Amino acid sequence: MMFPRAAALALFAGASLVSAAVIPRADDAVAAVTNFLTAYSNMDYDALKAAATPDFHFQDQAFPKLHPGSMSLGMFHWFISDQSNTNMKVTFDPSTITFNSSDGTITAHYVADYDFDAGFGSKNHVVNPITATYTVVDGLVKDEKDTYDLGFSGWAEQALGPTLGPLLKDSAATLPFIQVAGAGKLGLFLLTHSS
Ligand SMILES: *[C@@H]1O[C@H](CO)[C@@H](O)[C@H](O)[C@H]1NC(C)=O
Repeated sequence: MMFPRAAALALFAGASLVSAAVIPRADDAVAAVTNFLTAYSNMDYDALKAAATPDFHFQDQAFPKLHPGSMSLGMFHWFISDQSNTNMKVTFDPSTITFNSSDGTITAHYVADYDFDAGFGSKNHVVNPITATYTVVDGLVKDEKDTYDLGFSGWAEQALGPTLGPLLKDSAATLPFIQVAGAGKLGLFLLTHSS
């Protein structure tokens, strides 16, 4: 009976080593997120793609259902390609990037500043401070989940403009409408651009 127990203990020790290896080193993980956000702030899609895994997955309030890979990366490709229309600027403070040693995630704060096309010729200036949580695998960003520091209604009030924004920011229809409109625009971009 001794041997199987020892073998089981060895297996258990091996298993815990494997799961411990899933948590990246803090400095590697922070460097990977810094690379990713630097590429984004430089509006450099090739560098952003190179800083992410092929199955990179993005999620936020406006884009909750993107598939991993070309759809999630494609959203960044669209934002970066559209920069001449939206005047998008992405800024972040590298000193605010923190590593969570209990679950291996990385949190960063960045600000997306752009003109949102609300239709009917109405372009509205949006300043959206975002808290982003990332996972990193082998030095590459694998997942990003964003939350808007002002909440979705804080975003919508700016994006929908001074007349409609205050009226519609808390409407139950606004979030689904923005999600469907965003998915449609992204779909059109993906149809007309290869990743
Ligand atoms: C770190 O991760 C754990 C587990 O997900 C979570 O409970 C904790 O709140 C996180 N710490 C910080 C500072 O975010």
